[in-house]
Amino acid sequence: MKILVTGGAGYIGTHTLIELQKAGHETVVVDNLANSQKESLNRVSELLGGVEIPFYKVDIRDREGLNRVFQEHEFDACIHFAGLKAVGESVEKPLEYYENNMSGTFVLLDVMRKHNCKNIIFSSSATVYGDPAVIPITEDCPKGHCTNPYGQTKSMLEQVLIDIQKADPEWNVVLLRYFNPIGAHKSGRIGENPNGIPNNLMPYITQTAVGKRKELGVFGNDYDTPDGTGVRDYIHVVDLATAHVAALKAIADKKGLAIYNIGTGHGYSVLDVVHAFEKANNLKVPYVIKPRRAGDIATCFCDPTKAKIELGWEAKYGIEDMCRDSWNWQKNNPNGYEV
Ligand code: NAD
Ligand code: UD1
Repeated sequence: MKILVTGGAGYIGTHTLIELQKAGHETVVVDNLANSQKESLNRVSELLGGVEIPFYKVDIRDREGLNRVFQEHEFDACIHFAGLKAVGESVEKPLEYYENNMSGTFVLLDVMRKHNCKNIIFSSSATVYGDPAVIPITEDCPKGHCTNPYGQTKSMLEQVLIDIQKADPEWNVVLLRYFNPIGAHKSGRIGENPNGIPNNLMPYITQTAVGKRKELGVFGNDYDTPDGTGVRDYIHVVDLATAHVAALKAIADKKGLAIYNIGTGHGYSVLDVVHAFEKANNLKVPYVIKPRRAGDIATCFCDPTKAKIELGWEAKYGIEDMCRDSWNWQKNNPNGYEV
């Protein structure tokens, strides 16, 4: 298939480009580089043995720019990663988040429809479940209350896509609810490159290990979990990337609307991750216990059976692989893509 990848220069996008190309698909990237650098795509090309992926520095809110891309290429499907994703920033700048994520997706969907490309895979998040009603979380678990504008945009865009598909059954909409992606390509050439002080656990651990941060703060040790720290379903970003390749099957099968949890089904606490990281890399990660972080929940992990049955996809990498590959990326690129 020929696939438009919005946000393809970012963390999950770059890993997905590699798996799509390996599976024989053709890809084209649209990204405004708001949270990425062109160097990430140079490295994707290097990892693919020199294959150049057409790149357009276009903001998805730019209707004319997007139209030009669709005039030059006939797409079978779009994998839509483009969006702003920092939870804390979204609380401070709600209008910017709603405007970028909502308006950008509206323009994209309208241009897709105009060019008769009605197949989309959307990057959603476990955050749509809020404080989940059941553990492990299945796809029919009711959606919950999102505590921040970022999460709201994911939840609302899911509903927009559901309504569009209902009104016009020619659309095939695949909603992938990612759990906690970490890790990096095993080459150490591409990986996650957060701006400023990381909010998420793994980048904070790797930046502590590389000496950029003094110590990790563990946000709360009084949750109702085996060791009191928060439990999450961490998934290797390469497994997440292959889930997108597998999700194209739902489009080929003309499923209409399909929703999948993309996780491993295993929950690890913050201290489990710290210890796995220390063991995998033979390092010490200094940490201190801090108060709970506002908006956090105790436990979040999924039942990924539906993706296994319907898409034939399951995660292959374990927590040690994730810790080893995260560190391999960080130690070889202490300043991310800045050369
Ligand atoms: P990322 O920031 O690395 O990648 C997103 C890309 O989108 C960036 O390259 C950015 O420049 C681009 N972008 C943003 N706004 C744009 C616009 N208006 N026009 C064109 N390009 C734009 O993030 P990621 O971690 O790769 O996440 C990809 C998607 O998955 C996002 O939608 C994110 O919300 C979602 N998601 C991520 C996680 C996670 O933990 N990383 C979890 C659940 C869902
Ligand atoms: C967060 C977002 C979620 C988003 C996801 C992926 C919140 C409330 N949720 O999920 O919307 O989809 O990232 O980007 O922000 N932790 C520490 N110390 C740290 C950082 C994290 O102890 O410095 C703990 C957290 O309390 C949590 C676990 O580590 O228990 C994972 O945190 P994080 O990586 O931020 O992911 P989530 O909170 O699950």
